[in-house]
Amino acid sequence: MHHPDPHSYYDSAQPKARRLRLKLRVDFAARRLHGEVVLEFGGAVSGPLDLDTKGLEIHSVQAPGHGPVPWELGPSDPILGQRLRLDMPEGAQEVAITYATATDAMALQWLGPEQTEGKVAPYLFSQCQQIHARTMVPCQDTPIARIAYKAEVDVPEGLTAVMSAGPTGDESLGNGRHVFRFAMPQAIPSYLLALAVGRLESRDLSPRARVWAEPETVAAAAWEFAGVEDMILKAEGLFGPYPWDRYDMLVLPPSFPYGGMENPRMTFLTPTLLAGDRSLVDVVAHELAHSWTGNLVTNASMEHFWLNEGFTVWAERRILRILHGNDAAALGWAMGQKALEDSLEQFKDAPQLTLLRMHLEGIDPDDAFSSIPYEKGARLVAALEREVGEERFLRFLRDYMDAFRFTSITTEQFCAFVGTKLPGALEAVNAKAYLDQPGMPDTAPEFRSVQLDTLTALAESWPEGGRPSAQQIASWKPTELLVFLQKLPRKLTQADCAWLDEHFQLMGRGNYEILVEWLTLAANADHEPAFPRIREVLLRVGRMKYLRPLYGALGQHARTRALAREIFAAASPGYHGLSRRVVQSVLEAYPA
Ligand code: BES
Ligand code: ZN
Repeated sequence: MHHPDPHSYYDSAQPKARRLRLKLRVDFAARRLHGEVVLEFGGAVSGPLDLDTKGLEIHSVQAPGHGPVPWELGPSDPILGQRLRLDMPEGAQEVAITYATATDAMALQWLGPEQTEGKVAPYLFSQCQQIHARTMVPCQDTPIARIAYKAEVDVPEGLTAVMSAGPTGDESLGNGRHVFRFAMPQAIPSYLLALAVGRLESRDLSPRARVWAEPETVAAAAWEFAGVEDMILKAEGLFGPYPWDRYDMLVLPPSFPYGGMENPRMTFLTPTLLAGDRSLVDVVAHELAHSWTGNLVTNASMEHFWLNEGFTVWAERRILRILHGNDAAALGWAMGQKALEDSLEQFKDAPQLTLLRMHLEGIDPDDAFSSIPYEKGARLVAALEREVGEERFLRFLRDYMDAFRFTSITTEQFCAFVGTKLPGALEAVNAKAYLDQPGMPDTAPEFRSVQLDTLTALAESWPEGGRPSAQQIASWKPTELLVFLQKLPRKLTQADCAWLDEHFQLMGRGNYEILVEWLTLAANADHEPAFPRIREVLLRVGRMKYLRPLYGALGQHARTRALAREIFAAASPGYHGLSRRVVQSVLEAYPA
């Protein structure tokens, strides 16, 4: 038995499913999906076949034309879930499984009407990355086994379903239910299966791009992301024709635990991006870039996650540089540097999680998640680019994507490819230090600009009384202010906080990056005027990137700890399961 992915029961000696046909009935009352999945193998299979499941209730297993299939669920592992072993009859080419999901399926968040913008209808969304597809569908839940899929989703009349696939029609069933059909003809990793159901409207942004949101936010979303076609064109200029037909986006309710998720043909986005000034669209550039670096060429397992995220961060900043110039890109790298330093600090007692090539046997990939694969990975990519020159590196990248289109690869495969196309480059940048050694190599590339140097010097002079001038205060763009705040000393006085709020009107910011950076500084300083806003943000937003630092900062004073515990008690029923877990671990680390 050979398990090439430590997070899957998939056995590489067994055949891979080629296609899924999925029927899902969405039951909001019971908070369950009633499903039937047919796995097609594209040829005869027989004997043992192992699938991943977690919390699924299996009702029946049939091989069409061959009758019932004997099956057995293995013991339940807290990370992997349960192996579902099927004993496939001779000659069967497909297998049909009927099942239901658990009410606490990690891939799914069921929202009551009060958790939506409109407050009138429930909402459901999925988030399968890293290994939660198995809580939604029995499948070979590893990116090695790519699949195409078709789906039919049966929802209450009046609600709309969207998926990481193209729509192929919908109709009323006449009984208060409505069915939506989808097809994803290209082979995708299971972590890109995605579904959302709610009261949704859309606005076209270009012939191939539209944004979906609740009716209350769709106009704001259309305005915020109006530049997406331009971004697609710039990305195509770098990486070649957009490979997925449409690029649509869905703006989710605020409990969505990530900033964005690159579900193919339907990027999922947090509503915290709706700053009202288009200042947070770098997240869209990132998810769009995954259309090449990730969805087209993905990691073979989470041990090689950096291939996805490191390349995508690099690509995101490359797109940003074309759209907004070198200074904007340098600020992007500076924000990344801050995230990298925070993650290195977070994992200072787990240096093995700071390698790019990770060893994750027995480790929950959600616990290994940090900015390290993103930012250390992006710096390795940038180092290679600097070593061979921009033009040659872009040509290499196009060759790389041609060579590995629609496949899932390891770091070793990547290195072998670089070795043949850019001989000597890995050695020249000391790639081994990034891949297999903890922390950051001191040869890592730096990104500077005059403006970045000015902001850094000013922030560092804060303790000696350095303050931004009225002219700076009036002219800084949101990212400049953010970088300035990030570079301030973490320990400010309450008078410092009052000065900042007065001069930058921080409490009322609609840009969540700025708002949360500010509230984190204020929580660190035990600055009471910020408490109501902190409560408001933590009760509304479930994005883990914001919950972790804010709850973390609240851990430093007795009364902010009490505040955090009180807020969490009220907020946690509305949090996504992943967010709840993260906050629990932050609160458990508080001093007693
Ligand atoms: N694919 C990730 C989100 C993700 C990672 C979900 C791991 C589950 C497990 C997505 O592309 C991403 O990186 N989103 C970032 C935004 C980006 C600009 C760094 C986020 O959510 O903040
Ligand atoms: Zn990403």
